[in-house]
Amino acid sequence: MFFVACNANETPQLGKASVDKVVAAMTLEEKVQLLVGTGMAGFSGENSVVGETQNLVPGAAGTTCPIPRLGIPAIVLADGPAGLRIQPTRKDDPQTYYCTAFPVGTLLASTWNVELVENVGQAMGNEVLEYGADVLLGPALNIHRNPLCGRNFEYYSEDPLLAGKMTAAMVKGVQSNGVGTSIKHFAANNQETNRMGNDARMTTRALREIYLRGFEIAVKESNPQTVMSSYNFINGVYASESRELLTDILRDEWGFKGLVMTDWFGGKNPPAQVHAGNDLLMPGAPTQYEAILAAANDGSLSMADIDTNVKRILKVILETPRFKGYPYSNTPDLKAHADITRQSAAEGMVLLKNTENALPFAPNVKTIAAFGITSYEFISGGTGSGDVNKAYNVSLKEGLNNSGYTLNVDLANKYETHIAAENQKNAPDPNNFMAMFMPKVYAAELLFSNAQLAGIAAGSDIALITIGRNSGEFLDRKIENDFELSVDEQKLIQTVSEAFHAAGKKTVVVLNIGGVIETASWKAQPDAILLAWQAGQEGGNSVADVLKGAVNPSGKLPMTFPVNYFDIASSANFPYDYQFDMQKAFGSFMGQGNAPKEPVRNEDYTNYEEDIYVGYRYFDTFEKPVSYPFGYGLSYTGFACENPTVTGKNGNYTFNVRVKNTGEMAGKEVVQLYISAPAKAMDKPAKELKAFAKTKLLQPGETQMLTLKITPRDLASFDSIDNAWKVEAGDYTAQFGASASDMLQSVKFSVAKEIVVEKVHNVLNPKEKINGIR
Ligand code: BGC
Repeated sequence: MFFVACNANETPQLGKASVDKVVAAMTLEEKVQLLVGTGMAGFSGENSVVGETQNLVPGAAGTTCPIPRLGIPAIVLADGPAGLRIQPTRKDDPQTYYCTAFPVGTLLASTWNVELVENVGQAMGNEVLEYGADVLLGPALNIHRNPLCGRNFEYYSEDPLLAGKMTAAMVKGVQSNGVGTSIKHFAANNQETNRMGNDARMTTRALREIYLRGFEIAVKESNPQTVMSSYNFINGVYASESRELLTDILRDEWGFKGLVMTDWFGGKNPPAQVHAGNDLLMPGAPTQYEAILAAANDGSLSMADIDTNVKRILKVILETPRFKGYPYSNTPDLKAHADITRQSAAEGMVLLKNTENALPFAPNVKTIAAFGITSYEFISGGTGSGDVNKAYNVSLKEGLNNSGYTLNVDLANKYETHIAAENQKNAPDPNNFMAMFMPKVYAAELLFSNAQLAGIAAGSDIALITIGRNSGEFLDRKIENDFELSVDEQKLIQTVSEAFHAAGKKTVVVLNIGGVIETASWKAQPDAILLAWQAGQEGGNSVADVLKGAVNPSGKLPMTFPVNYFDIASSANFPYDYQFDMQKAFGSFMGQGNAPKEPVRNEDYTNYEEDIYVGYRYFDTFEKPVSYPFGYGLSYTGFACENPTVTGKNGNYTFNVRVKNTGEMAGKEVVQLYISAPAKAMDKPAKELKAFAKTKLLQPGETQMLTLKITPRDLASFDSIDNAWKVEAGDYTAQFGASASDMLQSVKFSVAKEIVVEKVHNVLNPKEKINGIR
């Protein structure tokens, strides 16, 4: 690369002089300023060195520190995984800055469609670019270790392959706009309870195979510009202070070239973070600046560490639209993005039950009795930094109307009056700082007498009952009235189903939820169940598209729906009866430590005793019945999976399988490739997902050949004694499934002798023994 020659007296300018020259010209103070973000009003106090950067894009989560003398601009970092989160209105400015609320991560993963997710990413990234931000703080891909994690909706799956592939697709899509992403939260951030103080303790095998694997796939396949380290400790060390995690694994082993930033206010020891390779501390506080400066001055932190991180930050800045002077419009094509949202959301909805073709609605269905609060207040996404300030949110009622259906008017009026009154009562106190972080309190469910229901059934063609759930960061979910249905919800499903059945009419349940709920106890009652997830701002339209049959559902579960909460292996080590503690949740935000005390299990530390047996790996291997298995989802048509073949050797295999639409409606199907290992030399799950593919829209009778490939690394397991990824020798079975419990075809292959795929660092070992479940 050639740089414009600099006169010896001239100050080198970023982009004109080499990064090395710019760094050489920086004072220590300037370097440290760059390592620490510009603060967050109302929390840490603005970094004293900074002026107006926080108004570059109002509502963005943070900025880096500009150094005009050297031509270094501030860059803008903004949430989040379901779309850009900025302030929608500005003082003395008639223009609005609404962004598109896309479907939540879990819904996108349910599409199992990497092209679709890349398209969504392209649209999302375009809003980042056109609203003047530089790096999107997403996608988020922590593993769904337990359904009660309050942020699962932001994340993709219980399976690291699916999570990693979805992340790679999203990163490619967003970054195709020339803006950056920040894949988060690295790593093992699987609970919100005491999220800034919890130590995730696990074997290196569980860490590598389950909790790091998705990040590894994403880093290697999509080159994210940045990674966000997580709040928690991993085996006794804060993720943001772990050189083993951020340097030995992320950079040395995986080849990550971008920058690592902390999660907001994460970690306690700024010099240790710098040394670990956590380049940027966000949002940044004067105390961090001072701590780094002091450590540099007393020699406990090396200049080499500081320079390395400064260079990484400068390299990312060089890539940003702001550095390049992109003239952003502030007018992205919100209409086009709404169309993408509507279509992608419909593709990620999962049809869980459909008896006697209750769906799509028969032609004689015209008037719908819509029950359930969230039929009228459809939830587009979760709360916290995963939320988006959108211009509108299509409720189910509106979506059905838009699709030409009439709602039972008396019933709708009753709900709307009730909701308006309850919303007034439950309105969050604007003076309560905590309230802005808490999920909305929805109106209590309405119940109806048998006579009332008989009347409603007589005046409607079908019943729809929406069950809604919302959650967000800071808080994990509860078992009662959240994972489990409330008594009133159970009663509603039961009484409505009975009344409509008695009238010879059907009942459909729509699940407007962000995470897994209990389904086994009530799923026999309705005729159909559509898992709509939190589907973004066009949610009501997307659901209506599926109910009507304009879209044939092709979503598949990215996680298992268990029979009971306590059937889940991690339930033995997950906080479920925790009382929210403001001091703990906000301790670091407020700059206060938590008072020293005896560490409390599942709050201060969580032992991952289920090890690699997360999700279907557990249910399958230990033969526990589930309510709906991983990978499950029905269609309005049928598919056959034919002529499977395998070719290849030494760990590299290509599989072919032909999928045929055997039904009467066009549709898409996902083929899931599960592999069972010989499991002689190593403890292995009964089977693991190793590849997947989705067909195009197949017309009735049409076929498509799908090709799936795997490499030795895909087949390998982590041997924590030798610190190596190994493929066992022996006979393997590859099964093509319609879900983890429904195998359609299988082929066999053998690996002649053990393959040591990769030797890695002996790092991140647990400090205490972690009991296993085998
Ligand atoms: C969340 C991050 C988010 C950041 C900035 C934190 O509370 O954990 O996911 O990106 O805030 O808003």
